[in-house]
Amino acid sequence: MAGMGLDRASDLPLYQQVAAHLRNQILDGRLPAGTKLLGSRKLSAELGCSRAIVLTAFDLLYSEGYLRSVPRGGVEVAAAARASGPAAPPSTAATDDQWLSQRWRSVLDTAYDFDLGSPFSTGTPDISGFPFDVWSRLLRQTWSNPQRSASFDMSPLGWQPLREATAEYLGTVRGLLCHPQEVAITSASSGALDLCCRMLLDPGDEVWVEEPGFIEARWSLKAAGAKLVPVPVDDQGLCVAEGIRRAPNAKLAVVTPSHQFPLGIAMGLERRQELLEWANRTGAWIIEDDYNSEFRHRDSMTASLKSLDRMGRVVYLGTFSKVMLPSLRIGYLVASTQFLEAFGRGRGRIDVHTAGTAQPALAEFLRQGHLLRYLRRMRKVYGDRQRAVIDALQALLPDELEIPPTPAGLHLTALFKPSLASRISDREASHLSRSSGNFIQPLSQCYLGEPDRQGLLVGYGRLPTEEAHRRLAQVIGAFPA
Ligand SMILES: Cc1ncc(COP(=O)(O)O)c(C=O)c1O
Repeated sequence: MAGMGLDRASDLPLYQQVAAHLRNQILDGRLPAGTKLLGSRKLSAELGCSRAIVLTAFDLLYSEGYLRSVPRGGVEVAAAARASGPAAPPSTAATDDQWLSQRWRSVLDTAYDFDLGSPFSTGTPDISGFPFDVWSRLLRQTWSNPQRSASFDMSPLGWQPLREATAEYLGTVRGLLCHPQEVAITSASSGALDLCCRMLLDPGDEVWVEEPGFIEARWSLKAAGAKLVPVPVDDQGLCVAEGIRRAPNAKLAVVTPSHQFPLGIAMGLERRQELLEWANRTGAWIIEDDYNSEFRHRDSMTASLKSLDRMGRVVYLGTFSKVMLPSLRIGYLVASTQFLEAFGRGRGRIDVHTAGTAQPALAEFLRQGHLLRYLRRMRKVYGDRQRAVIDALQALLPDELEIPPTPAGLHLTALFKPSLASRISDREASHLSRSSGNFIQPLSQCYLGEPDRQGLLVGYGRLPTEEAHRRLAQVIGAFPA
């Protein structure tokens, strides 16, 4: 067992570490069939672990067919595990990824610096006030005597009562009037986007993406082989005329019109009309990512682009993940019935449907008004947190930041004015923030090309108001004078 060091800090149990090491040696031929292994007593002494750990590892490998016992005692590598099998899953993946498809590599190769555990993480809600009692009661109720269709034949488009409840919810919360037959339940909005990319795009198709924009959306586009065309965003949102100049025949535009990611601004009405006119004229598709618009901070609501769509070119995506629990991974898609029919048929052949267990409980959660009540409470919480972050930033860096109005969501972007940008880049500022345990994302990483702005994406979902000033002071205190 040369080279075998047990990692006691790892989450992987010790017996699995021992088994994985032996399995890899067998698979890559270093332990050919018939090789006698050291006895469990000797091996455990060599590894510095208990004999029970080694015996458990052996048991696992017996059950997998890698080992067998020898008639007169001892353990040897089973003939079935001759090194003719495939090489072990490459443990050198970090350095040698030639075995991956080019598309997958292009997804992995995108540099992305983030820290979900940071108090300034952009998409992280505060779940401390989530009504877990109600949620667990509904889960229990819906599964104590489940309808057969919830267990066996859920539609690829989702649990019908949840589609109905979602249509009603969208009318109330987003003023989006749609029929339940135009709603599909998806594996959060990322899952919906990924399937839409595969459904709408062929390799090499051009797609408009916002510049700066949402990095994670680009991954699904790249995985589908799309050619990304960055289209600048100004204070009115996506510069449609520039998109038309750069790629008039793009197949798709992916946009965040209600509060642009990452800048936070709402797309002006004129731009929305230009975008729809372009799509209607050319037959392009528009994916409207409306994530977190439920968390609006003022009474006025920015209407969705979908509500202006008369020709069925807009596919609207939203998510319950952020407004409820991040691990819920349930979202929705609203599109024409013709689109949904093809979406559902294709989905039925790929991953069948979104996991069904939580869907009946979620339908009840919506129907009984729990989500609306929770949202009402959280809007106030997040509104106060946004205000506290703005106040702290303005007090700590007076006249050095510009904060575009951010009508909704869980983060804001603080743009560096020239005086600040001349002292520090956003990447340097981000780097410094990590050392105090307050990682903040740099705006420049949201660009595909050369960034024309510097700034920081300050998430406040999880940041209590009383902590905002203290933590931001720690970050900004490290900036050079
Ligand atoms: C702009 C934007 N769209 C979509 C999502 C993803 O939502 P989901 O968690 O539902 O996949 C995020 C997540 O942070 C986001 O920032």
